[in-house]
Amino acid sequence: MEKEKRPIIQKPRGTLDILPEDMPVWLKIENTAREVCRRYGFHEIRFPTFEATELFSRGVGDTSDVVQKEMYTFEDRDHRSFTLRPEGTACIVRSIIENGKCFDAMPLKLAYLINCFRYEKPQAGRTREFYQFGIEMFGAESASADALVLALAHTFISELGIRDIKLHINSIGCKKCRPAYYDKLREYFRAHKDELCDTCRERLEKNPLRILDSKSPICKDIAKDAPRSIDNLCEDCDNHQKELCAQLDKMGIPYEIDTNIVRGLDYYTRTVFEFIVPTIGAQSTVLGGGRYDGLVSELGGPELPGIGFATGITRLIEAMKQAGIETKDENDFPLIYLASMGKDAEMFASATAERLRRKNIRAESDICSRSLKAQMKYADKIGALYTVVIGDNELSSDKAVLKNMKSGDVREISLSAIDNELG
Ligand code: HAM
Repeated sequence: MEKEKRPIIQKPRGTLDILPEDMPVWLKIENTAREVCRRYGFHEIRFPTFEATELFSRGVGDTSDVVQKEMYTFEDRDHRSFTLRPEGTACIVRSIIENGKCFDAMPLKLAYLINCFRYEKPQAGRTREFYQFGIEMFGAESASADALVLALAHTFISELGIRDIKLHINSIGCKKCRPAYYDKLREYFRAHKDELCDTCRERLEKNPLRILDSKSPICKDIAKDAPRSIDNLCEDCDNHQKELCAQLDKMGIPYEIDTNIVRGLDYYTRTVFEFIVPTIGAQSTVLGGGRYDGLVSELGGPELPGIGFATGITRLIEAMKQAGIETKDENDFPLIYLASMGKDAEMFASATAERLRRKNIRAESDICSRSLKAQMKYADKIGALYTVVIGDNELSSDKAVLKNMKSGDVREISLSAIDNELG
């Protein structure tokens, strides 16, 4: 009787399998991120995948889309509410407070590579589980700190080879200038109250800035003529913004002021920015960030300014693909495949491969006792750069033929000195 076929289990909607053939570009991004961070003095940190739900409602802000609509929240067996991290900033702030790092030498410069979770409608460039590289810097208030963070972002993206990129910056003010600006916004939006979507109507009193970030086309249209934060900055914020622009000019980092950028998370103050790659479609923001001077104290720590950014790794990959950037590395392929004929040769090939690996040479040999034809097919498939065939004759004479798989060139070598022949 035929056995009943079990249905295949599929990955959850909006998640990714990152397969071995996908890895070169991921590694290129991760390695570049780590290398650039080292150059700028940022140190890697890791933290839990889930945190107390309150961390995000208080940190990211309960008027943000992320908290209102997108969190993966669950109760554990003890009926405590936890949430899969939708981002890293609030987690890092929690971690530095909890670990007493707020009193370390400042500035404190941290970096992370994480997966995040948001219940969004999956589409090109937007998934429910996604990956970020980000940095956070604490204890530096000046515009030079903003410039440093932007310079790191700019260097990182440039070193990936992405050229078609635009930096948009804006300032959304601080707790001093914001109340008067919010009043102006409320006044403006109240005149359109009936046209606003339910979410935005709710935001009107609590956080009118959020309406500027609405996804509803009608609200977006109304927001076009709303008062702009940049026209309503206090003197300190205005000076900060001007200084940042001057510093970016001096550093040769191109940017444009974009008054529409307000960012989707509630913790930002003063500088906000996004790096945009216009060629990758609707989800063209590859990197977003800004200053968050009130977040550490909001989460129970001391008054400590902060600024940082996060990039979406899959969006960077798309930008690299569009730009035709090659990330395959020769080191991902075996340097030599030792094919064998017969049991003695198979054992010799295995021992030789092991000797080569101990000398840091990428070597493979047959471990399935397959025909020579099948072995050569496999060597070709895995992209071995050289092959050598070992049989009884080769064993007794110590001589074998080394073949360069790319050029087809062959030459005789000594098996016992094979490591000296590969170079
Ligand atoms: P964010 O703008 O929400 O900011 O996310 C940063 C980047 O992550 C986005 O620009 C985008 O490239 C990527 N991203 C976000 N959501 C998705 C998604 N569903 N699928 C694929 N990629 C996505 C933050 O998360 C802040 N924590 C950044 C920050 C750090 N601000 C200050 N410090």
